[in-house]
Amino acid sequence: MKQDMIVILDLGSHENTVVARAIRALGVYSEIYPHDITAEELKALPNVKGVIINGGKNNVIDGVEIDVLPEIYEAGFPVIAAGHDKALCEVKLPEFGNDEAAIKAAVKDFVFETCKAEANWNMKNFVADQVELVRRQVGDKKVLLALSGGVDSSVVAALLLKAIGDNLVCVHVNHGLMRKGESENVVEVFRNQLCANLVYVDATDRFLGLLEGVAEPEQKRKIIGGEFIRVFEEEARKLAGGIDFLGQGTIYPDIVESGTKTAKCVKSHHNVGGLPEDLQFELVEPLKQLFKDEVRACGVELGLPYEMVYRQPFPGPGLGVRCLGAITRDRLEALRESDAILREEFALAGLDKKVWQYFTLVPDFKSVGVRDNARSFEWPVIIRAVNTIDAMTASIEHIDWAILDKITNRILKEVPNVNRVCYDLSPKPNATIEWE
Ligand code: XMP
Repeated sequence: MKQDMIVILDLGSHENTVVARAIRALGVYSEIYPHDITAEELKALPNVKGVIINGGKNNVIDGVEIDVLPEIYEAGFPVIAAGHDKALCEVKLPEFGNDEAAIKAAVKDFVFETCKAEANWNMKNFVADQVELVRRQVGDKKVLLALSGGVDSSVVAALLLKAIGDNLVCVHVNHGLMRKGESENVVEVFRNQLCANLVYVDATDRFLGLLEGVAEPEQKRKIIGGEFIRVFEEEARKLAGGIDFLGQGTIYPDIVESGTKTAKCVKSHHNVGGLPEDLQFELVEPLKQLFKDEVRACGVELGLPYEMVYRQPFPGPGLGVRCLGAITRDRLEALRESDAILREEFALAGLDKKVWQYFTLVPDFKSVGVRDNARSFEWPVIIRAVNTIDAMTASIEHIDWAILDKITNRILKEVPNVNRVCYDLSPKPNATIEWE
């Protein structure tokens, strides 16, 4: 393994991910582990150079005071224990706060002088290490991967392809609710350019058939989610005889949020979700130590196209939650075409690199207008463009009127059955980013 590592032991502090990011920003790899790790487990981790025990005075979870095992202090590693008074601490720091720059300055000497860690954390080394680890884990067996075309699954696919080549089997399920050109792009990049073993399933009719007449947003989401699993499961069963591993685009925030302990086998609550118990795969999760921006850097290192790596977030139910109310094929087409125009114009104006998420919606009502000197009765298109850090709250982008004008004119001219364009001015809260 090529990377030195500073281990952070989790005593329930919300700052741990900021501390990990600050150390990685110094060029040294860092991972968070549960507070109850044993000295033996700690020593078994590769290239540990030092330990940070972070929690200060808030080491109480559910009314119970928690602490690391005393043996951790005797495991032979330099230790920072913020807010602790342990005799064996080599360095004591004041409580960190949430400021990445301040944390960087505070831990720099510890990392480089005390621990003698080398700044060897970079994507080239990361990819080389993961390729080696995946090869060790998988051997000459096959790995199945649900490739949605999203950032995480695309980067996992590229990494697994580099590690095991033909032994990776990707399944791309097109639920008919993808954006314009999206499924075609997945096939083009992975099958034609990267020569991946890709099973493409066009399940459009199946999904749209089940969704016919269903207007309630939660019910739509459940149908799409449930059917996705069934289609994937069918494909998995066809291949299952020869497959032992399931690739997953799990990333670091998923792991940290679930208590830094990862499940070994697929259970119904897992990311891919709902796969039957009798399909027992071992998981392969090479991105599970990366934050989102690092996943993107990894994609770039692996040579994936910019648009794929810097793709904006796209909900699992896809256009299904933007074609409001009961989905019809003609409204779905109006949605797909207007969304493509919006994306094209945002790219031309450089807004694709500035705005966090932007898309169109088509509601299930019509309004009166004029087309070719005659009365028209057609749908409106709604534009939404928002900025956010964590998607918990969001503010709208103040788009230049001239750009909105241009987009409006193009949509009215090029998209059939649309006679109005509106801009959604609502922040989250009270609205959410998606409408359904
Ligand atoms: P809301 O609408 O809740 O969306 O403000 C917050 C962010 O989550 C995305 N989103 C989803 N992502 N599966 C996903 O992977 C989903 O079912 C889903 N629903 C919403 C949404 O696009 C926004 O970025």
